[in-house]
Amino acid sequence: MLAIRSEGIYKYYKDRLQGKKEVLKNVSLDIEEGEIFGILGPNGAGKTTLISILSTLTIPDSGKVEIFGLDAIKQANRVKSIVNVSSGNPNFPWSLTVIENLRYFAMLYGLKNREEAVRNVISALELGSFTNARFDSLSTGTKQRLSLAKALLNQPRLLFLDEPTVGLDPDMAIKIRKFIRQIHNERGITVVLTTHYMKEAEQLCDRIAFLKKGEIIAKASPDELKRQMKLGEVISIGYEGEFDIARLKDIPQVIDIIGEKGKVKIVAQDVESIIDRVLKMFCDVHIRNIEVSQPDLEDVFLKLAK
Ligand SMILES: Nc1ncnc2c1ncn2[C@@H]1O[C@H](COP(=O)(O)OP(=O)(O)OP(=O)(O)O)[C@@H](O)[C@H]1O
Ligand SMILES: [Mg+2]
Repeated sequence: MLAIRSEGIYKYYKDRLQGKKEVLKNVSLDIEEGEIFGILGPNGAGKTTLISILSTLTIPDSGKVEIFGLDAIKQANRVKSIVNVSSGNPNFPWSLTVIENLRYFAMLYGLKNREEAVRNVISALELGSFTNARFDSLSTGTKQRLSLAKALLNQPRLLFLDEPTVGLDPDMAIKIRKFIRQIHNERGITVVLTTHYMKEAEQLCDRIAFLKKGEIIAKASPDELKRQMKLGEVISIGYEGEFDIARLKDIPQVIDIIGEKGKVKIVAQDVESIIDRVLKMFCDVHIRNIEVSQPDLEDVFLKLAK
C-alpha cells in the first residue's frame, strides 16, 4: 500500500520583493508503506514546506495529497490521527515541564489512555530523569528526544522527521538514528525524513528524493543515485619510481586522473574489471599502497546542488 501519493503540488508564498514566490513546483511523490524515505536538498529548497504539506499542517495551492488512501486536505482530521511530525528544532511551550508538555499534546490529540501513552513515550525515549524539567532548561539532545516522544504519542503509521539530528553530538546522533531504525523495524512505521547529513541519509534511507528550488530533480536509492551520477570509484596508488600517469588514459573506463609525485588517484567506472590492467602498468615501479574507495552521497549532493 502507498503511504503517500502526491501529485502536482505547487506552493507559493508572498514575497515583498518578488510578489509571488514559487516554493514548490509540480512535486509528485509516491512513498510505499514501510519505507524510510529521505528528502534532501540545499537550504531553502522547500523540504520543510513539503513535509508540512504532506503532514496536513500546510495547504498546497494546487495538487493532490493522499495519505494511506485518505485525502490530506478534505480528510485532514483523519490523516492527523495517523501521522505525526518531529522537528530537530522543536518549539514547545517553554515554561512547561517535559511531562506537562506531553500531557498537553496527548490531550490535543484526544487520546483515550493519556497517562499510559505519556508513560510509554517517556520510557521509549529514556526521558524518565527529565519528567519535571522545564522545556527551556533542556539540552538540544533532550529537546529533540522530547519532540520524538511527542510525535510517537498517537502511535503514528507515518512519521515525518525534519532534520532529526541537527546540532547533536555524534554519540547522541547515533542513538537517535538507531532509535529511528528500531521504531521503523519494530512498529513498521513509515518514515519520511529530511537531513543535511549525507551519512545519515545513506545509513537510513531506502530511497531519496533530491529537491532543488522546489522541484524534485532526482529520486532513487542512494546506490542508484551514485550510479546515475556516474561518479565512479577512486583507485589511489602510492608508488616509488618513475611512472607516466598519462598511460592510464588508454583504459576506456578511466574518467579522470589526478597525480602528484609518487601518488595517483584514478577515477574510473567499474573498477573491478580494470584493476588488473592498472596494476600491470605499475609493474616497473614499487607500489607502496593502494586503496579503492566508493563515492559517497556527499559527492552526489554536491553534483546535484550545483
Ligand atoms: N511561511 C513562509 N512565508 C514566506 N516564505 C516562506 C515561508 N516558509 C518558507 N518560506 C520560504 O520558502 C522557501 C523554502 O523554505 P523551506 O523552509 O521549505 O526550505 P528547506 O528546504 O526546509 O530549507 P532548510 O534546509 O534551510 O531547512 C524558502 O525560500 C523560505 O524562505
Ligand atoms: Mg527545513
